[in-house]
Amino acid sequence: MAAAVVVDGRSNVAPDLANGLACSFTYRELLLATAFFNHANFLGEGGFGRVHKGTISITNAKGISEAQTVAVKQLAPEGKQGDTEFQVEVRMLTTLAHPNLVKLVGYCEQGNQRMLVYEYMPLRSLDNHLFDLPFGKQPLDWNTRVKIALGVAEGLSYLHNVADPPIIYRDMKAANILLDEDFIPKLSDFGLAKIGPVGDKTHISTRVMGTQGYCAPDYVESGRLTLKSDMYSLGVLLLELITGRKVYDDARPRPERYLMTWASPFMTDTNKVHMLTDPALMGRYPLTALNQLAWIINLCVHPKPHLRPIIADVVIALKHIASQPYVSERRPRPRASLPQCRPRAIQKSRRLYKGCAV
Ligand SMILES: Nc1ncnc2c1ncn2[C@@H]1O[C@H](COP(=O)(O)OP(=O)(O)OP(=O)(O)O)[C@@H](O)[C@H]1O
Ligand SMILES: [Mg+2]
Repeated sequence: MAAAVVVDGRSNVAPDLANGLACSFTYRELLLATAFFNHANFLGEGGFGRVHKGTISITNAKGISEAQTVAVKQLAPEGKQGDTEFQVEVRMLTTLAHPNLVKLVGYCEQGNQRMLVYEYMPLRSLDNHLFDLPFGKQPLDWNTRVKIALGVAEGLSYLHNVADPPIIYRDMKAANILLDEDFIPKLSDFGLAKIGPVGDKTHISTRVMGTQGYCAPDYVESGRLTLKSDMYSLGVLLLELITGRKVYDDARPRPERYLMTWASPFMTDTNKVHMLTDPALMGRYPLTALNQLAWIINLCVHPKPHLRPIIADVVIALKHIASQPYVSERRPRPRASLPQCRPRAIQKSRRLYKGCAV
């Protein structure tokens, strides 16, 4: 990683965009923070542009300036849609705050340049820990997967139940779940998020946007977006979490390419549910909890949106699953201080216990 330059991130607030809740950085400041977008600081690239690691100094509420590691997302200049999503992202992330939502440190809106500056998430996104693991990389264990599932559900519950009016996230997918150093998940990418239906309305009508495979089929067909559209995407994500399979994978044999099609026969059959699990788990999971999780997933991906659960119920169910962690069945190793079982020692101990029932 190239040494990133520490610069003065002035709290030069643009009240129209961030309501004073995020820093406005100049292009030059972000150039210096990322060492001129040095390739050594490159983190990844998505539909909206490239992401680089950087270090910037932020002045906190007490007026003390401190260096913070950040991820700078540079929106590719082409397209009007990117600019709209940039505005939505800044507005959403400056009004919402929850431990399971990524924090927006600031942004840059200078000339053609549009950049978003986030807190840096050292373990990157969930997809890096589930799919195509490089040789030697430790796969996620069962308990970590459940912890991630619960955190994601709690983040979504905040959007659906605490945010007022409710927010439909619309872009739930493994690449958008960022992980901190303790595998605490944070939802990111709010550019597609929508303010949910208010009053008596049950849906909002929109152009279908999102990631193929994660989008609820009813939403794709009708363009009617509801909170239950997010519940379908959550079901798909939970399925990826336990199977270690991508929602669509053309590297697999034809009948296994679509995760939902492949998984459906196993989800409701308690005798087959173990077939769903990621081989990398090597059978290390509690079977009852697996059955419960498969049941939740099955409800979330129900073709009829009104039969999908609400997020509050899923959070309760996932808390119950998290309360049944996988405990290794390996016997504890003998303590070093125990006497060696050499024949003479045994004879000696027999003499010692002579006459006692041992
Ligand atoms: N805050 C962050 N901290 C650390 N790494 C990040 C951060 N944000 C993004 N990344 C990395 O950059 C990559 C690209 O992220 P980005 O959100 O631009 O694209 P994406 O989620 O893969 O696709 P899409 O554009 O469809 O959302 C991510 O996969 C992740 O590894
Ligand atoms: Mg993303």
